[in-house]
Amino acid sequence: MVMATKTRVPTHGNYHGYYNKRPATNDPRLGLVPRGLFVGARVLDVGCNEGLVTCEIAQNLHAKRVIGVDIDDTLVSAAWKHRRSVWSQQGPTHREDTQEDVRESSTSDSRKRRRISNSDTEAALSSQGGLANYFPVSFEHMFGPLPIPASGANKDVADIFPHNVTFRTADWVKEGIPEDAEGYDVIVAFSISKWIHLNGGDESLRTFFRRVHEVLNPGGTFVLEPQGWDTYGKAKRMDSRLKENARHLLLRPDDFGRVLQEIGFGPAEHLGEAGEGGFRRPIDIYRKMQ
Ligand SMILES: C[S@@+](CC[C@H](N)C(=O)[O-])C[C@H]1O[C@@H](n2cnc3c(N)ncnc32)[C@H](O)[C@@H]1O
Repeated sequence: MVMATKTRVPTHGNYHGYYNKRPATNDPRLGLVPRGLFVGARVLDVGCNEGLVTCEIAQNLHAKRVIGVDIDDTLVSAAWKHRRSVWSQQGPTHREDTQEDVRESSTSDSRKRRRISNSDTEAALSSQGGLANYFPVSFEHMFGPLPIPASGANKDVADIFPHNVTFRTADWVKEGIPEDAEGYDVIVAFSISKWIHLNGGDESLRTFFRRVHEVLNPGGTFVLEPQGWDTYGKAKRMDSRLKENARHLLLRPDDFGRVLQEIGFGPAEHLGEAGEGGFRRPIDIYRKMQ
């Protein structure tokens, strides 16, 4: 397993603090994806960074299981931490819980108790994202993160957030993870194609697309946010190796649809563009042919 430790030059796009520039909640890229796509699905998020997209799919979009994989082990640690924060902000899910929700802090001297009214809960339930972001971030700062209860053998609980999320460290182009064996219904690759392309060349990108095809179930969906060719320049200036690799690239992001079709995907469905400024990029989906 390749582990990239935090380096000064994020040559894999392994930015720390990436979500200071990207929306931390309600990612507009996910907003373009058909609402039902993730429901009950096994999902792989390749290049999950600090796990924000991964957790959003797991918590709000009703996926059964979501695995985030990233080449950088410090980002994967941050992703596990983020999962705990999202859990700490999540409101109670059962009506009986709303009668009296007792939250105790392991770090606080005195016990903290808060009562949550039914009307508060109903307001949160009716808002987009269900019970996400119900408690303020400040609670975690004041009282510490909430412990995650064991799911045990309870199948119903295992399939909902936070139990339905796992993170792994791997260079997923070069090595599989145990979850690949069961296959996926959806694979998400947001803002990662450029980094695979610049690090490993055209062949590495083709290998990536072939691996996605291999582990997707028949009829499964590949959700791709490719970076435009105009954005490669900045990455090349970052590092002489990437600059040298870039000289040999023949494929351009406009060719990706054709390459994916050669591998066995259907034609691209262009869902539109999301993001602001330099982050405005297309979101395309490709279905694995039966
Ligand atoms: C620019 S960030 C995008 C993060 C996230 N997908 C998003 O768009 O919000 C690219 C991420 O891909 C990861 N990455 C790059 N190459 C990878 C590889 N071969 N295998 C797994 N992760 C990789 C980087 O560490 C980084 O976290």
